[in-house]
Amino acid sequence: MSYIADEKRYERMRYRRCGESGLKLSAISLGLWHNFGKEADFEACQDILKAAFDNGVTHFDLANNYGPGPGAAEENFGRVLAADFKAYRDEMIISTKAGYYMWPGPYGNGGSKKYLIASLDQSLKRMGLEYVDIFYHHRPDSETAVEETAGALDRVVRQGKALYIGISNYSPGQTEAIVKAFEELKTPFVIHQAVYNMLNRGTEKGLIDVLTKERKGLIAYSPLAQGLLTDRYFNGIPSGSRASKSAFLKPETVEKNMEKIMVLNAIARRRGQSLAQMALAWLLNNPAVTSVLIGVSTRQQLLQNLKAIENTSFSEEELKQIDEITM
Ligand SMILES: NC(=O)c1ccc[n+]([C@@H]2O[C@H](COP(=O)([O-])OP(=O)(O)OC[C@H]3O[C@@H](n4cnc5c(N)ncnc54)[C@H](OP(=O)(O)O)[C@@H]3O)[C@@H](O)[C@H]2O)c1
Repeated sequence: MSYIADEKRYERMRYRRCGESGLKLSAISLGLWHNFGKEADFEACQDILKAAFDNGVTHFDLANNYGPGPGAAEENFGRVLAADFKAYRDEMIISTKAGYYMWPGPYGNGGSKKYLIASLDQSLKRMGLEYVDIFYHHRPDSETAVEETAGALDRVVRQGKALYIGISNYSPGQTEAIVKAFEELKTPFVIHQAVYNMLNRGTEKGLIDVLTKERKGLIAYSPLAQGLLTDRYFNGIPSGSRASKSAFLKPETVEKNMEKIMVLNAIARRRGQSLAQMALAWLLNNPAVTSVLIGVSTRQQLLQNLKAIENTSFSEEELKQIDEITM
């Protein structure tokens, strides 16, 4: 039977404006970096994506290299779009990116016009889309002039292959430089995707100020510190968890942070939230954050995390305690 989205979905989510643009994003967005690639159970992925949409998540984030198996997450997402979401395309904000290594040779990495234009064409093909809503430059490229990268991003908008432009992992200074180039071209640059969570507060050192001054959106990636800010590692490292299998989260990092995590969990419990819910709520308490971009490996994780929006206010005392632990 074909999928029919829950009619109450928009009552269950909040939507936040992305900077001063006309675009609003769901407070919680879903990313497909891990768990949606070659090794994933397709039906489980499909189920997670439908559950997200049924609960008002409108924003789904991909990149050319997401897998495992570069391109695999976009291919799987394309299959789900074709099977279930055809009727809902206009209710979805789909993003992809290019910037990391994707194919061999000098044109499959970086920030050149050649790479960005070819990569977006490939992504559109894999997902079976005519356009993406946001196309990101995934990371700065010191070997390419910022005007060339900005020009390529501007071009894909003029070609109708992307509606809005984003950047990711740019420092405050690099952000200011590319904003200037976008302004000259009148490119609809609306959002910065940066790592931001209670254990990694680097964005507070200048980036938030730049984005606020420029009136741009901020989407916080890895808001749960890849699972550290959840109950996932309370009793060691379970098999199948990210820390057990991915180079991006090392068992030493889990061990190093465990003490802080348990103190944060005690605060979350006093608030009547899980640690994951508090970690997301803490970010959403910050008006500079447009959306929190979570990853999940199960439907249960997703449903637990979505409840974070039920309480996003914090007392002065709670904020002070969190600062003392995490700064
Ligand atoms: N622009 C960039 O450079 C960049 C970089 C990284 C990420 N991103 C984007 O951000 C998205 C999210 O990144 P992320 O996956 O690192 O985010 P995250 O939300 O910090 O971590 C997700 C992981 O946390 C665990 N988790 C989530 N909810 C849980 C719960 N309720 N209970 C227990 N464990 C839970 C799961 O780990 P297990 O898998 O172990 O179950 C899940 O895979 C990515 O998909 C991508 O779209 C962008």
